[in-house]
Amino acid sequence: MAKYAITGGASGIGAELHAQLARDGHEILTIDLHRANIIADLSKPDGRMKAVRAVMEWACDGLDGFIPCAGLPLHFRPLSTLVAVNFFGVVDMVVGLQGLIARKRGTVLLVASNSARMISSDEPMVQTCLTQNEARALGHAETVTAHAAYAGSKRALILWMRKNTEAFARTGLRINAIAPGVTLTPMTEDAYKDEDMGETYRSFASISPWTGREATAKDIANIMRFMLSEASEHLCGSVVFADGGTDAKLHPDLV
Ligand code: NAI
Repeated sequence: MAKYAITGGASGIGAELHAQLARDGHEILTIDLHRANIIADLSKPDGRMKAVRAVMEWACDGLDGFIPCAGLPLHFRPLSTLVAVNFFGVVDMVVGLQGLIARKRGTVLLVASNSARMISSDEPMVQTCLTQNEARALGHAETVTAHAAYAGSKRALILWMRKNTEAFARTGLRINAIAPGVTLTPMTEDAYKDEDMGETYRSFASISPWTGREATAKDIANIMRFMLSEASEHLCGSVVFADGGTDAKLHPDLV
């Protein structure tokens, strides 16, 4: 049986993945702001360090998989915290745990978003994240729209993954990303209530050409469980859009 660490395991997609992996008999360590084995604030470098240390203690022989699922939504403010959690909280944790995961020839599964395709790689928000100068990127986040901060942090995450896939693979770690569309979780329930953006979220949820509805956390965790399993061994550096065909509908010319 495998050992997995999940950030954001207290709610939504992370909680559902935790339940599914536990049902399969795996051991799981959760990291979150509340209701977790390790309480840590991943918006801050010291919170990330605390979490990395705790995972290292728990899995001293190596980690089979790491799933940095914790994230903040479009309607969260301040946007600097959103970018700190969605990009830097993920990158710092993956880098900190890289050796531990490679020891088991393990897997990292990032949680991006189909919104990552709704912003250009040239956008300053994306590029500033990729410089990995956190202070500069968080300062920049306060000057951009919520869409640029959210989609930009998720696009930067995917680009960072693609740039590092080969180097990670050489050390014995395979990395992939899932890019969900609108998924019915506490995050989305909150978003639906948002005065400014609630209506847009709702209308976006129904444009999937296949399901015509939001995903459930179970829909997404089912795919993640496969991406973590040995059956997906040949998947490496891939972004899986799990959005009922929405990305294909909106971007038919992109592959
Ligand atoms: P959720 O809000 O249900 O769960 C997110 C978890 O992250 C919560 O338990 C929260 O406490 C934790 N978290 C937030 N800030 C943190 C911090 N500073 N330190 C530690 N933990 C923190 O959200 P959901 O929907 O399950 O989202 C999970 C991931 O999926 C996120 O990365 C999100 O961006 C992504 N995603 C979600 C979509 C959706 O429609 N729900 C669509 C596309 C991507």
